[in-house]
Amino acid sequence: MSATDIDMARSLMSDSVDKTKMYVSLDQSKAYSEFRPRYSEELFKTIADYCRETMPDLGLAVDVGCGPGMSTLGFCKYFKKVIGIDVSETQIACAPKDVANCEFKVGYSHQLPFIKSKSVDLFCSGESFNLMPHKETFDEADRVLKPGGTLALFGYTFKATKPEIQTFFDQLLAKFVTYYPKETALILNKLRDITLPYSDYVRREDLKSVKRITPEDYIGFVKSLWAFVAYSKDHPEVDVAGEMQKELEDLVAGVNEAGDRTFEVVWELFILMGRKPKN
Ligand SMILES: C[S@@+](CC[C@H](N)C(=O)[O-])C[C@H]1O[C@@H](n2cnc3c(N)ncnc32)[C@H](O)[C@@H]1O
Repeated sequence: MSATDIDMARSLMSDSVDKTKMYVSLDQSKAYSEFRPRYSEELFKTIADYCRETMPDLGLAVDVGCGPGMSTLGFCKYFKKVIGIDVSETQIACAPKDVANCEFKVGYSHQLPFIKSKSVDLFCSGESFNLMPHKETFDEADRVLKPGGTLALFGYTFKATKPEIQTFFDQLLAKFVTYYPKETALILNKLRDITLPYSDYVRREDLKSVKRITPEDYIGFVKSLWAFVAYSKDHPEVDVAGEMQKELEDLVAGVNEAGDRTFEVVWELFILMGRKPKN
């Protein structure tokens, strides 16, 4: 998205959304668990490798704003213990309970009394830092990180390969835009507005996941968006998801070979990684 388009979207977004209450609906959290993209193995490995450069023995990873765990679980094969933390009880209720070295807790990113100071090798946040109090969350990260430990923020934007489908995505953003908090624009801009508190941090924007999805997959994804939930509440007379699905199905049928109901989506990943100084 161009800088101008992001500025335009930001100017229309709301400054009165309670960002800690955007994920309280169970239907939304279920859609989140089922339809939000899984991060690639490459993303988890990239962050674990960076962390390992200073902390060869990967002990504890803490993922704040973890949602139902898609940003958390991929770290379990690299770290001895992983803790996912989210302010939403429903998101945590939808996280898996059966992973031996992983646990999930309800809590704020900037208030982690159950994590000891200087005990954490990786403090991270996936697709969620924009919603958190920045300074307070960085301060809490600095308290719990071991010297040399890694602070990583990551997330994704997405686009369709076919221009007709991208136009549908753009129209959907325009329809919902006033329901988003202004901080959503930070994600649209891949957190380029954010500076990590540690010097010499790195920014990666070269990782991508390319997938073919169906209209059901995409509408399931839309149902996990706060703006869809808020818009639907304000328009109870309309079957918002049903109408969007029909429109998208017709569009896909019009641009594809007969019988192919899938279309290509590119999830563009971004990562910021920095280290707490050793002394
Ligand atoms: C878009 S979801 C990201 C979930 C997951 N990390 C992912 O990558 O898909 C944002 C999450 O941040 C959580 N959140 C918002 N503000 C928070 C805060 N101050 N502390 C902890 N979690 C927060 C929300 O409840 C929501 O589950």
